[in-house]
Amino acid sequence: MLLDIVKYGSAVLREKAVPVPAVTSELVHLAEDMLQTMYHAKGVGLAAQQVGRLESVCVIDVPANCEESEEVKAFNASVKMPLVMFNPVIISKSGEQDGKEGCLSFPNMGGHVVRADQVTCQYTDVSGRMQIVTVRGFLARAVQHETDHLNGVLYVDLMSAEDKLALANKLKKLANKNGGNI
Ligand code: NI
Repeated sequence: MLLDIVKYGSAVLREKAVPVPAVTSELVHLAEDMLQTMYHAKGVGLAAQQVGRLESVCVIDVPANCEESEEVKAFNASVKMPLVMFNPVIISKSGEQDGKEGCLSFPNMGGHVVRADQVTCQYTDVSGRMQIVTVRGFLARAVQHETDHLNGVLYVDLMSAEDKLALANKLKKLANKNGGNI
């Protein structure tokens, strides 16, 4: 089922997600709906708040061709897509990358964000098993972007001052249209 994607300005995007005590069939169903919604919107990641929910869950599907180097593709190759992560927590970060990023809650916008180049993330999978993945490059960017969402942090908070200034009017209009919460 396609879900409505919450846009910037809505209060729920600033709320913190609550860890789920167990991965129930209802939560697996929610994750499936989130994936369907993400693919339909041509996104590579989606977090619970973006569909108006506060359970700690995000979904990610970054195609290998989004990575700039063969080395990063090879590094990430063992990570099966899509990633469905319940209660994800980044447990270590290293390096730095500066790249362009977008978000389904900010249609037709993008800006540069500096992020760690490599992250290790612990999460619970759809079977309720604890997993740990280490990823690099654009996939690492997506994991950081989605775990930020679950903490009520949006990529505009981290965007370069120059890009944020260039988007200021668009951001204001979008926020005003969706409840005015920035
Ligand atoms: Ni986003």
